[in-house]
Amino acid sequence: MSDDGRVAVGVLASGSGTNLQALLDACANPSFPARIAVVLSNRKGAPALDRAHAAGVPVLSLPKRRQTPRAVYDALLVEALHDHGVVWVCLAGYMLLVSPAFLSAFPDRVLNIHPALLPAFPGIHAQQQALDHGVRIAGATVHLVDEGCDTGPVICQGAVPVFQDDDVTSLSARILTVEHQIYPRALRMAVEGRLRLRGRRIDVDLRPGESRWLWTGA
Ligand code: GRF
Repeated sequence: MSDDGRVAVGVLASGSGTNLQALLDACANPSFPARIAVVLSNRKGAPALDRAHAAGVPVLSLPKRRQTPRAVYDALLVEALHDHGVVWVCLAGYMLLVSPAFLSAFPDRVLNIHPALLPAFPGIHAQQQALDHGVRIAGATVHLVDEGCDTGPVICQGAVPVFQDDDVTSLSARILTVEHQIYPRALRMAVEGRLRLRGRRIDVDLRPGESRWLWTGA
């Protein structure tokens, strides 16, 4: 818990940071139960860092992991997050897998967003995988991170249609619009302590009117 009574969250981002922006925007509302305490990136020039700067959030850009042993790298991450009092971690377009040691520093308190309706299409190029398989409904998933790649229990999902003339750019853009809605929603459920882990699935103590899914028709 942070000193303003809101839960301190650390965000790890490698890319353009539109999901980070959605989280920053949610946290800009004082009634939102979390605040972003620090943003870390493994890419020095990542636009995500500019977004954090603009929101007045501390940023740290880490050395390239290729130049650093994994254990050392993740120990640096954990130390930086602990220094900022972080309780929950959000991966938001973070392109590296986090290690078991990292996960044990934040047990069942690391979230990720993936641009597919998991367990379909884990890993990279999820939107292209969806197009290649000809699915008619695609989407995004917020899940708890476990030691696998996009295998952790699902918290929220958002679905979108796939149109005949979609390419990876148009489909990715449509999926992003639901990502930006479900990530703050899932983060709220998480930091309010409403996730109940039941084996490989999660139950959520839902508030009236709240749902764990989202569908944008067109
Ligand atoms: C998103 O599609 C997210 O689901 C995936 O990486 C992308 C990051 O986009 N993990 P952004 O950096 O949040 O704009």
